[in-house]
Amino acid sequence: MKNSVLTFRKKKQEGRKITVLTSYDYTMAKLVNDAGVDAILVGDSLGNVMLGYEDTVSVTMDDMVCHCRAVARAADHAMVVVDMPFMSYQVSVEETLHNAGRLMKEGRANAVKLEGGTRVCPQIHAMVEAGIPVMAHLGLTPQSINAFGGYKVVGKTKETAEKLLAEALAVQEAGAFSLVLECVPMKLATLISQKLEIPVIGIGSGAGCDGQVLVAQDMLGMTSGFSAKFLKVFAPVGEVIKTAVSDYIHEVENGTYPAEEHTFSIDDEILEKLY
Ligand code: KIV
Repeated sequence: MKNSVLTFRKKKQEGRKITVLTSYDYTMAKLVNDAGVDAILVGDSLGNVMLGYEDTVSVTMDDMVCHCRAVARAADHAMVVVDMPFMSYQVSVEETLHNAGRLMKEGRANAVKLEGGTRVCPQIHAMVEAGIPVMAHLGLTPQSINAFGGYKVVGKTKETAEKLLAEALAVQEAGAFSLVLECVPMKLATLISQKLEIPVIGIGSGAGCDGQVLVAQDMLGMTSGFSAKFLKVFAPVGEVIKTAVSDYIHEVENGTYPAEEHTFSIDDEILEKLY
């Protein structure tokens, strides 16, 4: 059975951890889905990971629709949550509904995610009313990198911690089914997870959250140049790929690949007639 908002709710109620990983293409999504993850996030981090941008600001609706469609085709078990890209939900509630509708209808997502607290509550409310499940995202919100002036931990002072808790309660009140907390001090993230009825999915926010999300390429050691304190590389897949590619180059150059068993045969009689 395909996972849904009900899976998230049930797991929180039963005190079982929720697992989320990003994917942006069919091949990776199939591996992640088949391994049994609860949900796949088609994150706008695809701007950095797939398109080579320095941040997520340039990611478009068309990018998200295209990648989400590919992921949705692979996800027969995992719930598919897709990021609303920068400026696809900030202008108006009407535009938000139009864009979220595209992600559900064309992208075949099961839910959308957007960044922000109180200021996006009218959008969350309208989407939930329209039957679109919404995951909120607070703490470090990468789409606001230019306003933050860098990637930083959020909620270390009394004011920012109080604001974060108030925003978390506000998005829950607006109807979000879940909340991502990015780079929030562990004890604060744990407190927010305990205070909220909806599941809190952490990234860089410690083990006290109701679940975790990571970028698949990061936890597979495929994103050279990216490092973060919270990141654990579960398998050095990037190194495995590099070794395989250099073995391929070597074998093609020295003629050991392709070998006899990799070739197709033809009757000598037929061939002779061609000479
Ligand atoms: O875009 C993304 O991948 C995300 C996760 C890091 C939470 O928003």
